[in-house]
Parts: sequence; structure tokens; C-alpha cells
Amino acid sequence: MKTEATKFSAEDYFATQTPPPTLEEDVEKVREFVKIQAKEGRNIVLVTSGGTTVPLELNVVRFLDNFSAGTRGATSAEYFLKAGYAVIFMHRQFSLQPFSRHYSHSTNPFLDFLDIESQDSASDPTPRISVTPEKRADLLTVLTSYKRVHSLGLLHTLTFVTVNDYLWLLRAVSQELSVLKRRSMFYLAAAVSDFFLPRQKMSEHKIQSGKGSLHIEMDQVPKILKPLVDEWTHGGFIVSFKLETDQNLLLPKARQAIERYGHQVVIGNDLHRRKFEVVFVSKKAASQDLTSSSQEDPFEEQWLRIPQSVVDQTTPGFPIKEIEEDIVQELIKRHTLWVKQG
Ligand code: PMT
Repeated sequence: MKTEATKFSAEDYFATQTPPPTLEEDVEKVREFVKIQAKEGRNIVLVTSGGTTVPLELNVVRFLDNFSAGTRGATSAEYFLKAGYAVIFMHRQFSLQPFSRHYSHSTNPFLDFLDIESQDSASDPTPRISVTPEKRADLLTVLTSYKRVHSLGLLHTLTFVTVNDYLWLLRAVSQELSVLKRRSMFYLAAAVSDFFLPRQKMSEHKIQSGKGSLHIEMDQVPKILKPLVDEWTHGGFIVSFKLETDQNLLLPKARQAIERYGHQVVIGNDLHRRKFEVVFVSKKAASQDLTSSSQEDPFEEQWLRIPQSVVDQTTPGFPIKEIEEDIVQELIKRHTLWVKQG
């Protein structure tokens, strides 16, 4: 399959690609959620989480996927909720979610938490199930937070699968959040595909393997941070992530993103060290002293680190403290200042 690549602007993209069928319904629910939270005077953060896919066929059998389990997004959402924010959690279908992430089937299968009690009464033959005593304290903590968040209606969840779903949803949700102006935050932790196949170039049916090799030329996904900053939001505090596998590229790429899109923070993370360290890159507040400012580095960097030696014995390779706790704390500090300055 060889086709000419096109350069899409965000505008071209939305003019030529079709919205997901549930978009209107999803937006209606978001609008209701925003209205309620605004009335309660709460700040709202939109957390995007998990990877987007790029289907290769209209009747999709094959697709390209982006790396992300959704750990960063789901964990951060919990800390935002704990700090009193309302959260719109926009995540890849079946990726990790706040609270239930503690019992993921691979690291902590929930059946391991349950015991079948021995029966002591012949009159009641139904076996009873209980929580394993050593797991009770942790489960109670998670369950208490989960119940609180749900009874107060602080968490609204949306799902996407493809990069197309993601782009349409992101635009619509950010437009709904624009009523909150500076009191909204955007925490863009999703791993978004950089290339896609426009539906006009997709094969309708399953690509046949008879021809031997497969050649696909994909188009670039438009960079949506620019319209997000300039058009879709009105003063929202925008945090994007930069994922690199070459540590040397982290700072230059993060600086480039701040320069190019003009938003508030880029959080740089190296693929292999992302659970232990991240770097916040932002523009320094404009210097009053014009003579020195021309020489000055316009960026500032702040590293957050968790000691790598302190690992959780129950899940090897994981730090005992979650770095997202510190990330969220630092962001809330900055967001509070941002709201005050507005
Ligand atoms: O979920 P985990 O397994 O815990 O992993 C978390 C993570 C490593 C995926 C996360 O911390 C992270 O780094 N997410 C961003 C990864 C990514 O897609 O980086 P990027 O360089 O492709 O994009 C940088 C930023 O630009 C992102 O905030 C993205 O929202 C934005 N973007 C991307 C593509 C696009 N077309 N337009 C965009 O604006």
C-alpha cells in the first residue's frame, strides 16, 4: 500500500476525519460534570492516560499501538483526587484506572486477596468468602478513598482506543473546560501516536498477505498542543509529557516543546527511569531587569527524584513511594500560583 503522505493541520484533520459515534453523548456528560464541579467551586484536571492505536483497516484487524500501561495517568489521578481536584480521566480502554490499578491482574491478582472460610455450621451450607487478613489494611484504605470519590461524584471517566477518538475527545473536552478558565488543568500523560492512516487511504477489508511484504506510508498526526493552547482552552494550566529513550534528548526536546507551544510545563521522563525521576521544564517568569534578561537562560529545570534503592519488596522494580505523589504536589503548587496571578 503506497500512497502520498499529506501534512495535516489540526483544522484539516477535523475537516476530513470522522468523529467517534459516541462523541456527542460523551460531551453532554462532560458538560454536566463540569457544571456541577464549577458550582461546587472545585478545580478540574483533565488527565489523559494510556496509548492510542492507529488502525490499518476500516474493518480493523490490525493496528499499531503506542507504549503505555496507564500507570502514570491512573496514579496521578488518585493524587489529584486526594488533593481535592475533580478529575476527568480520559484513558485508553482497558488501561489502568485510579483505585482498581492496585489490583491489576498481572501484579496483584484480586483472587489472591480472597479466602474461602471453613464452615462451622451445618445449618448454613453456603461457603463464605473473606479478605485475606494481611491484605485487609491496604484494601480498606483503597476502598475508603474509592467510595468517597464515587459518593461525591469527583471522578468522570472517558475512554478512547484510536488516535482519532483521542483527538476528537481532547478537543471537545478542552472546549467544555474552557469555562473554568485558569481553574482547569490539563495533564497530558497519554502516549499519542505520531503517525496515522487517514480513513480515505485505508483498505476497507483486512489487508491480504498474498503480495509478500507490506509498505505503508503514514501521515503525521497534527501537533494538537498548539491549538489546545491557543484556541481550545482559555487560560487552562497545561502540562505535557516528553518521553525519550535517549537521556541526552530529554532536556532539549522538552525545551523545544515549551518554546514551540507556549504552555506552562513539560515533564520529561526517560523510559527506563520514569518511576524514579522526572524533570519539570518551564519558562522563567519574565525578568524585570531587561539588561540581564537578554543573556539569561529563559528556561528553568527542576528534577524530582525517588531514591532507587528504596524498592517495594512486594512488586520488585517498583519504588516504595510513588513519584506521582511529588509530581502532583508540585503541579498543584504551580497551578495555585497560576490561578492567583490570573
Ligand atoms: O503509562 P506508563 O506506562 O506509566 O507510561 C507513562 C508515559 C511514559 C507514557 C508518560 O509519562 C509519557 O511520557 N507520556 C507522553 C508520551 C508521548 O507521547 O510523548 P510524545 O513525545 O509523543 O508527545 C509529547 C506531548 O505532545 C504529549 O504530552 C502529547 O500529549 C503531545 N502530543 C503528541 C502527539 C501529537 N500529535 N500532538 C501532541 O500534542
